[in-house]
Amino acid sequence: MNDSIYRAPKGTRDILWPESERWRTLIEIFSDVVGSAGYTQLVLPIFEHAEVFHRLGSSTDVVSKEMYEFIDKGGRHIALRPEQTASVVRSYSQHRPVLPWKVWYTGPNFRYERAQKGRFRQFDQVGVEALGSDDPHLDAEIISLAWQFYERLGLRDVTLLVNSLGNADDRGRYIESLTAHFSASIDDLSAESLKTLKTNPLRLLDSRRPEDIEVVASAPQMSDYLSSDASEHFDGVCRVLDSLGITYEVSPRLVRGLDYYVRTTFEFVAGQLDAAQDAIGGGGRYDGLAETLGAPPTAGVGLALGVDRTLLACDAEGVFLPPTSAIDIFVVDTSGGDEAVLITNEVRQAGWRVDRAWDDRSMKSQMKAADRSGAAYAIIVGEEERTNGSVTIRDLRGDAGQETVSRTELLGILRKRLL
Ligand code: HAM
Repeated sequence: MNDSIYRAPKGTRDILWPESERWRTLIEIFSDVVGSAGYTQLVLPIFEHAEVFHRLGSSTDVVSKEMYEFIDKGGRHIALRPEQTASVVRSYSQHRPVLPWKVWYTGPNFRYERAQKGRFRQFDQVGVEALGSDDPHLDAEIISLAWQFYERLGLRDVTLLVNSLGNADDRGRYIESLTAHFSASIDDLSAESLKTLKTNPLRLLDSRRPEDIEVVASAPQMSDYLSSDASEHFDGVCRVLDSLGITYEVSPRLVRGLDYYVRTTFEFVAGQLDAAQDAIGGGGRYDGLAETLGAPPTAGVGLALGVDRTLLACDAEGVFLPPTSAIDIFVVDTSGGDEAVLITNEVRQAGWRVDRAWDDRSMKSQMKAADRSGAAYAIIVGEEERTNGSVTIRDLRGDAGQETVSRTELLGILRKRLL
């Protein structure tokens, strides 16, 4: 028998409590931070016409090598989204909302990558996109939102890398010069890099292979190819970051894995993670993308932060306190169970998280379940309590012992003890 069908497929995972609670906290903080800057939530389909992503360019590995694609039962060529920026721009092209259009999103993405810790085939992102302005203040706003998000989360060891890839023309001239540089050293490059040189010379700058280090170190720098317009734009972004007290490193070799970027690009790197998975988020400007996806020319800038990796970084820094419990109160009823139905209902409606024992078990067995639940208090109903309209409240964590009170006093006493 093939047992593997009973395990989540390679590169995917189940997220159980308490990780699922941290997950939700992270998304709540993100939506709060970006909501305070006027970004509204956009919920996108998980699959799109594959063409939406193919338009991002054949030299993007994420699209050409890693995409989950299939023909559906209606003969359509479909892809599970490998990222959401293209979907946002497709959505813009379809709905033509009033500009500037500022949206945020969350949800899973799919890439057929070599699965390892922090690198999954299904992974989640939270992100924002702002369409309709090429104001450098907007690039800085987006970076600053990520910064605020990390601060609110409590993540400290994060480095912000920024770079400018110039306008499309600057980028073209730079790629020509890079190609000439690398072509002159083909004997020194790794076999893998020779392949990359043909498809996307910019990506060679990312190479960490020992054979490539020298050739990459002596490669021309993008900053020497920036037009005055792109240079001014980049200075504008850096000036705002300075004025907001956001620290960053200018990283001339930062190219990123998607090919739609022009001008600003940036990445957030977690100091506590291994180099293979330390990019916890990134983004940049993509002013030409709207035209590619059938919309009128429209500037755009955004970012996406990896939820899985950010949580790994949080764990490495001990950001989250150990969870206490998923519930506050546990109801034990040895009088048949009907009282437990009423009490759980009443106490839940008063705002606490309440669970109870099932199957009309013995007092000993129900108390064991109460202890295991991690609840702060047990509310106990036996035959005697049921007959005289009382309940016993027992402190499960501290040393307050137990007291028997009238049913009518229950909520008042819980309020005093639990608030
Ligand atoms: P990206 O750099 O491909 O950019 O992904 C953003 C983040 O998603 C990464 O920094 C990383 O934290 C996380 N991530 C990517 N791949 C994986 C994976 N296989 N496993 C776990 N986490 C992963 C984008 O996706 C762009 N759409 C960002 C953007 C938005 N640019 C402009 N707007």
